[in-house]
Amino acid sequence: MLDLLIHNATLPDGRNAMSVAVSGGKIVEVAPQLEAPAHQRIDAQGQLLCPPFVDPHFHMDATLSYGLPRVNQSGTLLEGIALWGELKPLLTQEALVARALAYCDWAAAKGLLAIRTHVDICDPRLLAVDALLQVKKQVAPYIDLQLVAFPQDGVLRAPGALTNLKRALDKGVDVVGGIPHFERTMADGAASVKLLCELAAERGLRVDMHCDESDDPLSRHVETLAFETQRLGLHGRVTGSHLTSMHSMDNYYVSKLIALMAEAQLHAVANPLINITLQGRHDTYPKRRGLTRVPELLAAGINVAFGHDCVMDPWYSLGSGDMLEVAHMGLHVAQMTSQAAMRQCFDAVTVNAARVMGLENYGLDVGCHADFCLLQARDPVEALRLRATRLKVFRRGQLLAESASAVAQLHVAGRPTQTAWMSNR
Ligand code: FE2
Repeated sequence: MLDLLIHNATLPDGRNAMSVAVSGGKIVEVAPQLEAPAHQRIDAQGQLLCPPFVDPHFHMDATLSYGLPRVNQSGTLLEGIALWGELKPLLTQEALVARALAYCDWAAAKGLLAIRTHVDICDPRLLAVDALLQVKKQVAPYIDLQLVAFPQDGVLRAPGALTNLKRALDKGVDVVGGIPHFERTMADGAASVKLLCELAAERGLRVDMHCDESDDPLSRHVETLAFETQRLGLHGRVTGSHLTSMHSMDNYYVSKLIALMAEAQLHAVANPLINITLQGRHDTYPKRRGLTRVPELLAAGINVAFGHDCVMDPWYSLGSGDMLEVAHMGLHVAQMTSQAAMRQCFDAVTVNAARVMGLENYGLDVGCHADFCLLQARDPVEALRLRATRLKVFRRGQLLAESASAVAQLHVAGRPTQTAWMSNR
């Protein structure tokens, strides 16, 4: 007897009238119109069943702190960093935990069941590290949380940062982070990349660096990141996050750089909501968009994912944990409007993001965890267009969250009352 049988589902690859059978928290069969006894049966009514959303780049220690102690007036990355510096001494572990847990509830409701979050290690108290390690444990039944030791003020620039970073790793933080473009000089930035990659190699850890998050066409840290990845044999275990300077770089140089990134099997994470908001702030007109070269990276075979980065914090006043909103923005800013490109944007917040995090047993194949979302949409493109309602979210085959379908009742004079949702299918 199965625990759960979902039938009449459409899958992201376009197969329809599909059944997904679950037993013991795992997917045990995926087949068209399967018939088998099950404790629970759900008719998907042709809607899209997809693996859970994954956010490969977030800052959970800062989330939901918008307005504390004040609002970012210039809207720049640098004022955001300064503002976070003002907030840090005022943080308490209790408040950090409470905000992170509140955000995890939002995430679960939106079918976002795996998050890689950077955690600032520059405060020698390591308050945020302790808080997020506690949150990681607490949310483990419903969200996979991966922590990155992130030296927000620069591992070389901030006194004691390297010691704190190692202490954070000793406490159980999973991934080595960095921020080379915030070090004092380009040379220090390169030295920080080398140092941090060596540390990761020594400890057998993955790397995820904020890299070249500026509009500076001459920023070169992703080149160093690719080189160190290659030198240390860290292929497939290193992520370059943001990479916004690539937007402004010389085209010839980028044609060489992308090949180096592909050779090192770097993952690339763009953060469309934040990149379009923070970049280009020093421009008058035309204003650069600041998003890295997503279609070109994908064309070179590089795994590209989209992250949320920020929700209601010193850098960004909006957001709700909705990865479809993230992908929707990425699609627009990168002009990825063909059918195939829109589907790549959906992948950027699901399967590609799961590859960045190295998640195991992720997906809709036999043997995978029975984690999935039933969306009020017929396919990934419609899901993006509508930022589709998560009708049901499952974790290990158990219902975790459900939302009422987004259907309007129309009361037009002279017409009978009608229901409408914005699907033409
Ligand atoms: Fe970030």
